[in-house]
Amino acid sequence: MVFLKWVSFILFVLGQCVPTLPSDSSFSSNGLSQIPSKFLNFAKKPELFDWMVGIRRKIHENPELGFEEFETNKLIRAELDKLGINYRYPVATTGVVGYVGTGKPPFVAIRADMDALAMQEMVDWEHKSKIPGKMHACGHDAHVAMLLGAAKILKEYQKELQGTVVLVFQPAEEEGGGAEKVLEAEALEDVDAIFGLHVEPRLPAGEVFSRPGPILAGGGYFEALISGKGGHAAIPQRSIDPILAASNVILSLQHIVSREADPLDSQVVTVSKFQGGGAFNVIPDSVTVGGTFRAFTKETVMQLRQRIDEVITGQAAVQRCNASVNFPESFPPTINHEVLHEHFHKVAGEMLGIHKVKDMKPTMGSEDFSFFQEEIPGYFFFLGMQNQTFGQLQPEHSPHFQINEDVLPLGSALHASLAATYLFEFQSQLHLQQGNFHDEL
Ligand SMILES: *[C@@H]1O[C@H](CO)[C@@H](O)[C@H](O)[C@H]1NC(C)=O
Ligand SMILES: *[C@@H]1O[C@H](CO)[C@@H](O)[C@H](O)[C@H]1NC(C)=O
Ligand SMILES: [Zn+2]
Ligand SMILES: [Zn+2]
Repeated sequence: MVFLKWVSFILFVLGQCVPTLPSDSSFSSNGLSQIPSKFLNFAKKPELFDWMVGIRRKIHENPELGFEEFETNKLIRAELDKLGINYRYPVATTGVVGYVGTGKPPFVAIRADMDALAMQEMVDWEHKSKIPGKMHACGHDAHVAMLLGAAKILKEYQKELQGTVVLVFQPAEEEGGGAEKVLEAEALEDVDAIFGLHVEPRLPAGEVFSRPGPILAGGGYFEALISGKGGHAAIPQRSIDPILAASNVILSLQHIVSREADPLDSQVVTVSKFQGGGAFNVIPDSVTVGGTFRAFTKETVMQLRQRIDEVITGQAAVQRCNASVNFPESFPPTINHEVLHEHFHKVAGEMLGIHKVKDMKPTMGSEDFSFFQEEIPGYFFFLGMQNQTFGQLQPEHSPHFQINEDVLPLGSALHASLAATYLFEFQSQLHLQQGNFHDEL
């Protein structure tokens, strides 16, 4: 808050001191508040809109899973080449990181994920997935198109950028921890803030949704092998039955949240996988159970993980079985930076009207964007897609999932505006710090 007050003050001062800036310059104090609508108008131009739609459909037809986004990144690189935007490739196997602006600090990042899901598309349309068993059912095809749209807008206004916008095309959001790999590749070393968005079919088009603080849960996956001793199903005394042990494990896991968690601290433990047995008359040797757990703080995530391990091994032992528990993946909660929330609110409000910028409740879903937020102040928001004219859209990960392509300009303009105005404000803050420094001298 204090920071923002200073920013407004500095913008005011700059406005007074630099009357020579052309009046339509996006980066004069008067023009700053016009950037969002200026960028949106640019994004809505038929050439830019059709270009984004074309990119999105091309990627939709050829969905690729995490760390296999080779054709997708080839397309991205070809477009960045045409725009004359420098980039680093490969980053985290299949990722691309582009740079628009001065090439100097401050750096602000905008991010799109690129991967598809291992599922069969059930929507019959002209640009249906051409790859059996793979589909862009989470909108990451649209995310890529919007980030390229933002690249085009920012390139158009490149001379006026007060620093560098880092375009992060990230692989493997759904599985495999792509964000973590991008960080490990040291691709975001000097970045001061990062923004990300997700399309949301159940919220109205033309509106955006977010909140400061925790917005999506952290958590992880678990998988346990419960081993007993197989044998004849009619002679149970000669076997050690892992099916009964696994059943008790599943029931006991329910008690972690119902009996151990603070009712005001939202948590989930779900067993979503149960594999064992194959015959009516055979007790199997072993059973596999697995699932996911979610919570809003890193501490609670670690606590759940420990209790899941203890409950599975303990309860299996009660039934004379052995259990080994694995935690193949875990992820932190998505926590939005407070100052960036103010920034988002202002920029999105200027673009859409403040009544279209809505606060939302946190949800138990997760995003690997949270890995960026552990290292860099970050902000994640949702872009509504619901338009009553088209009827009810299906949720993410449904085989009937569809994109309302009308929102592509909005997403690209939001990306570009959040980044461009952030750079300006951050630059002002640097001036402010330098000013203080000189005063002290
Ligand atoms: C919904 O779709 C109709 C028809 O394409 C369009 O005129 C209208 O502006 C859309 N509404 C929103 C909020 O996008
Ligand atoms: C459990 O592990 C112990 C120690 O390795 C082993 O002696 C025992 O046979 C195992 N029990 C089952 C049911 O696998
Ligand atoms: Zn998804
Ligand atoms: Zn997604």
